[in-house]
Formats: sequence, structure tokens, C-alpha cells
Amino acid sequence: MRSAVACRALAIVFIGLTLTNNVQGSNHPISNDIECPPNSHVGFVHNSYTYNAPLHKFTDIAGSFFNISWYADGIVNSTTGTDNVPGATRSGPFVGTIFNETLTAFEKRSDMLLFSYHGKGFTFIPGPSYPALRWDGYSETLRFESICSGKATYIDLITYTCSDNQPLTYTVWSTVHTSTFDGLAQTLGATILAGDCPQEAHYDKH
Ligand SMILES: *[C@@H]1O[C@H](CO)[C@@H](O)[C@H](O)[C@H]1NC(C)=O
Ligand SMILES: *[C@@H]1O[C@H](CO)[C@@H](O)[C@H](O)[C@H]1NC(C)=O
Ligand SMILES: *[C@@H]1O[C@H](CO)[C@@H](O)[C@H](O)[C@H]1NC(C)=O
Repeated sequence: MRSAVACRALAIVFIGLTLTNNVQGSNHPISNDIECPPNSHVGFVHNSYTYNAPLHKFTDIAGSFFNISWYADGIVNSTTGTDNVPGATRSGPFVGTIFNETLTAFEKRSDMLLFSYHGKGFTFIPGPSYPALRWDGYSETLRFESICSGKATYIDLITYTCSDNQPLTYTVWSTVHTSTFDGLAQTLGATILAGDCPQEAHYDKH
């Protein structure tokens, strides 16, 4: 397992970088505000991953809002709008129900790729031993960032969900995120970067 402390330290470094970038005026108008109906409460899940593979390896596969075959084996069978243009929607089957997500922000740079989207609510059974789980809507921001002078990639997800069962919601998102990104890294032959950058002990300069 990775050292949780090292990962957290790394996450804090990059959150700091992101805030700095925002102040410099990049358009980062991500609204994760979601309105929960009565008896439903907002909670959030934050997961981050760091792998020894360059950014483009990930963005080659994950660069399209309309194609999520890499994300929990997702199927998109209906879209509206233009791929990677905010306002576009994607929809498809998901564990016995249908998801419908609207792209709210998209940013692409040579060193970074970011998607933010809102999802409509649905109820589903997360697994054989779980009760039905109702989500009254969610929003997710997914960011891929080049680090270690291009040698490695940092992946960061923040997901806000309205639900009446936050512990189970947390478990579901964390499981989906970790299996998705560890699976993707495995496909790419990328190992987990557990500590400092390989060779040079400094982070990517912008
Ligand atoms: C979706 O992405 C996968 C992985 O890159 C690719 O193999 C597949 O052809 C893409 N599907 C479409 C419809 O573009
Ligand atoms: C997409 O999949 C869902 C769930 O299987 C199905 O109800 C719907 O009709 C499909 N839509 C299209 C356009 O194929
Ligand atoms: C998904 O939601 C959007 C926005 O409300 C809508 O235009 C689109 O038709 C929906 N897609 C499906 C398959 O329900």
C-alpha cells in the first residue's frame, strides 16, 4: 500500500498549486454546489492517485466526455451537444438504472486535463449485500495533472453527492474511483508512485 501520509502531503502540495493557478485567473469556475431536496444531505468524497506514467497516456484514453469505456466500464449510449463543450450531456445504463450527466466545465492544457459534471439522481443497489441507495444528484470534478517533469501523473477527484446514506455513498464512490484508476494504470503498465518523483526530487514546473 502507498503511504497515506505521503499521498496526503502530495495532495496538499497540489491543492496549493491549484489555488495559486486559480488566483492567476485561469477559468476554473467549477461550481460543485448541488441543491439537496429535503431528507437528503450533501457529502463529499475526495480521492487522489499518482502513477508513474506521463499525462498523455491517461488523456489519450480519458480525453473525451462522450467516451467512458475506461471509467467503471461505462457505456454512453445517448449524448446531446458537442463533446468536451460545457452543456453537453451523456447518458447510459448503470447498474440497473440510467445515469445522465451534464458537462459543466472542461479545461485542457499541455500539463492538465479537467472535467466537471453534474449527474441527475437515481436509485440503485450497489451490490448483493447492500441496501438500495438513492442519490438525489451529484457533481464530480476529475483532474489529471502532469507532475515530476512529465514523468508521472496526479489524478484528483472530488465528488459531491446528495444522499440519505452518506457512509454507503462514500464507500461506493471510493470503490469505483480506486478500481477505475488502478485498473487504468494497470492497463497502461503504470505503477503507483508512492513517494518522491523518480530521480529528481522536485515537482513539475509550470
Ligand atoms: C472509446 O475509448 C476506447 C479507449 O480509448 C476506444 O478503444 C474506443 O474505440 C472508443 N470508442 C469510441 C466510440 O470512440
Ligand atoms: C440506453 O440504455 C438504456 C439502458 O439499457 C436503455 O433504456 C435506452 O433505451 C438506451 N438508449 C439508446 C438510445 O439506445
Ligand atoms: C439527459 O438530460 C438532458 C438534460 O436534461 C436531456 O436533454 C437529455 O435528453 C437526457 N438524456 C436522456 C437519455 O434522458
